[in-house]
Amino acid sequence: MRLCFASNNAHKLDEIKRLLPATVQLLSLADIGCHEELPETQPTLEGNARQKAQYVFDNYGVSCFADDTGLEVDALGGAPGVYSARYAGPQREAADNVAKLLHELATQPDRRAQFRTVVALVLPAGEVHEFSGAVSGTIAGRPVGSRGFGYDPVFIPTEGDGRTFAEMTLDEKNLLSHRARAVEGLVGFLTTLA
Ligand code: IMP
Repeated sequence: MRLCFASNNAHKLDEIKRLLPATVQLLSLADIGCHEELPETQPTLEGNARQKAQYVFDNYGVSCFADDTGLEVDALGGAPGVYSARYAGPQREAADNVAKLLHELATQPDRRAQFRTVVALVLPAGEVHEFSGAVSGTIAGRPVGSRGFGYDPVFIPTEGDGRTFAEMTLDEKNLLSHRARAVEGLVGFLTTLA
């Protein structure tokens, strides 16, 4: 089965490649000739994941899936959530987002947070399926680690060994991560189609 992953984020593509069965031929947006920014204007993770996947299906005619992820911080009432990418402004700079988060939490003893991912899959007949995954953790006092992307340097998963996601290998992150858990649901569903 040929399936496009509707994302321009190379880190996400690397993570997901390792999780899909060999029966799935994973295509990037570049592989299908899509070099544009995908629309992402909905107020929820579910809405954005659907919007991106539907856009690629409608314009490129390829079965595809998209993900949308939010970091939900308890002490910030669930923010930045669906606005995680643009938390520090429209330039979507990870370092700026992390700096703003650490500033907001500077005097905050409650560091609990969760990553939540929604994956939307659009199949040839146009039907849409959704899968979600989450991981709980805490926000570190400062960025640690050089792997991963986004908020990885400040996210310490509760089920881990105290390291941030940015200190883990891809395989270690995939054992615990929000995205891996959502993709697990996707893989389970795909195997029922075979
Ligand atoms: P989106 O799903 O690409 O819209 O991501 C929203 C925001 O969350 C962006 O700032 C990403 O860098 C960040 N993000 C998404 N997934 C992860 C992750 O697995 N680790 C750290 N940050 C992430």
